[in-house]
Amino acid sequence: MKKRKTILITGGAGFIGSHVVRLFVTKYPDYQIVNLDKLTYAGNLENLKDIEDRPNYTFVRGDIVDRPFLMELFEKYRFDGVIHLAAESHVDRSILNPLAFIETNIIGTVNLLDAARRTWGEQLDDKLFYHVSTDEVYGSLGETGYFTEETPYDPRSPYSASKAGSDHMVRAWHHTYGLPVVLSNCSNNYGPCQFPEKLIPLVINNIKHNKPLPIYGDGKYTRDWLWVVDHAEAIDLIFHKGKVGETYNIGGNNEWKNIDLVEKLCDIMDELLGRPAGSSRRLITFVKDRPGHDRRYAIDAGKIRRELGWQPTISAEEGLRLTAKWYLENEDWLNNVTSGAYQQYYESQYRERIAE
Ligand code: NAD
Ligand code: DAU
Repeated sequence: MKKRKTILITGGAGFIGSHVVRLFVTKYPDYQIVNLDKLTYAGNLENLKDIEDRPNYTFVRGDIVDRPFLMELFEKYRFDGVIHLAAESHVDRSILNPLAFIETNIIGTVNLLDAARRTWGEQLDDKLFYHVSTDEVYGSLGETGYFTEETPYDPRSPYSASKAGSDHMVRAWHHTYGLPVVLSNCSNNYGPCQFPEKLIPLVINNIKHNKPLPIYGDGKYTRDWLWVVDHAEAIDLIFHKGKVGETYNIGGNNEWKNIDLVEKLCDIMDELLGRPAGSSRRLITFVKDRPGHDRRYAIDAGKIRRELGWQPTISAEEGLRLTAKWYLENEDWLNNVTSGAYQQYYESQYRERIAE
């Protein structure tokens, strides 16, 4: 697929988006990559310092909720492809402020679909709208079983419901207007540049500062963790080789109960910080549960493995160690994102939970 040259990546200053932008900018020097990001609290241009001067990279600050702005952007660049990652992405924030999730995740996605449809018109050869979604749209699993591409949608948080809504819109634009689309639904990512509201970087930051490690409920909630670079590689494969109209599940085949994962991280951090073995585990604090907390997510990634030859590349041990090291070595990055507004967020989210 050589003709798709000017590509819009939305949310490219965020966690996963920055890894996708880096991969495309470095791997495809003949592509023009335009990164559109609002730079919310989760967007950070520091994530892309190493590639910001590349001639095939352009950053545009803007909001996908702003329709006239998007239409102008599409007219200006005449994109051949869109990889849409921009979203409000944190479940706990969606419980505090659901409207922001409806606006960005649903309205913003519809605006992008509409801008693509209007700009592309009938000229759809080699065009593609790729929507990046989550396994949370499938709901919650019991002790056994896996999410496949056929699992019925059953979202249960404002975040997952807004992502489910956006997925339905993408499929509606495909079936109704013939827009060439592809979707993927991925499990929990981890790695460098993840905002420390999410479990792994939050725990690493708290261990560093000897603060309590908040574990929701009984700690036996289960997630399937994937190294973020493996997700970026999967996105590259699907963008270039995926079948139009199809959905691909992406997962790490790497299930952990939260408490086991946090204990593992404690041990790695003790070693890296030269602290006595077992000292970080003493910070573990069971706290009030997340409302509507999904018990278990687990992805069957058989389709992308069989059809596109993708599989995760690194072990959990290796990935967690690399992640912990990255946060320790990038102290300025961590200090910058955990000052100011982060402290207020942390207070509002954890003060009561930890006091109980
Ligand atoms: P993130 O919160 O780290 O980054 C989101 C980015 O989107 C930020 O840079 C933010 O500034 C930008 N953004 C937010 N609202 C915007 C708007 N209105 N207009 C333009 N830009 C806006 O998120 P992430 O964890 O990197 O997730 C990226 C995508 O992948 C999301 O769609 C998410 O649903 C999906 N996803 C995430 C995971 C995960 O584990 N993090 C797993 C599966 C799927
Ligand atoms: O499954 C994919 C999804 O994974 C993505 O779509 C979301 O964008 C991403 O945020 C993530 O959602 P989770 O809710 O699973 O991730 P989070 O890191 O918030 O929480 C992981 C688990 O850890 C979950 O069971 C809740 C628990 N948790 C989380 C935090 C922040 C705690 O026990 N304590 C905490 O302080």
